[in-house]
Amino acid sequence: MQLFSLFVTLAAAVGAFAQAVADPSINTPVGVMQCLPTQLTFSGTAPPFVITVVPEGQTGAAPLVTVGTTSDTALTWVANLPPNVNYTLVIRDALGRINGSAPFLIYPNTSSPTPTCSVVAYTPAPSSAAPAPASSAPPPSSAPAPASSPAFTPAPAIRGRVVV
Ligand SMILES: *[C@@H]1O[C@H](CO)[C@@H](O)[C@H](O)[C@H]1NC(C)=O
Ligand SMILES: *[C@@H]1O[C@H](CO)[C@@H](O)[C@H](O)[C@H]1NC(C)=O
Ligand SMILES: *[C@@H]1O[C@H](CO)[C@@H](O)[C@H](O)[C@H]1NC(C)=O
Repeated sequence: MQLFSLFVTLAAAVGAFAQAVADPSINTPVGVMQCLPTQLTFSGTAPPFVITVVPEGQTGAAPLVTVGTTSDTALTWVANLPPNVNYTLVIRDALGRINGSAPFLIYPNTSSPTPTCSVVAYTPAPSSAAPAPASSAPPPSSAPAPASSPAFTPAPAIRGRVVV
């Protein structure tokens, strides 16, 4: 009994420590299919949480989509962004602290020629890792500008400063 309760105490202490390191944190979803509901899960000690989707790796960027605000630890999102693109989920708590998920891909519904939900327009910026053109080469034709989309309205509520 004594040993068992010691173990429980230790486990709780370790859990509390882990919580303090990643507070808040959000899990990375897998197998997200466009227009299908996906369960997003997260945790933190300062609810409510605002859950948003941003361009891959850009945790501090203006959100592409605001999934919602909740004091729960899960939220359902109908993935309403273009497929075959990586994104990052961001959680922001009541203290303005933010944290991001690892990148995740949205898969297309290959059996459906048109999306079955209202998709927010988004064109990822061209990779900056692309090799620079040789100096003798003509300048590359300008990359297509991201389609301006009235549907993409950055939520002002998410533009808080990153507090670390
Ligand atoms: C973000 O979450 C990860 C785990 O999901 C954690 O390792 C990391 O420390 C967290 N970052 C911050 C700033 O809390
Ligand atoms: C998405 O990210 C994964 C892992 O980094 C990478 O292998 C894959 O090529 C990326 N896909 C796209 C469409 O960017
Ligand atoms: C893909 O789209 C088709 C046509 O809209 C729909 O019937 C089907 O349920 C979708 N598949 C999934 C996995 O949602």
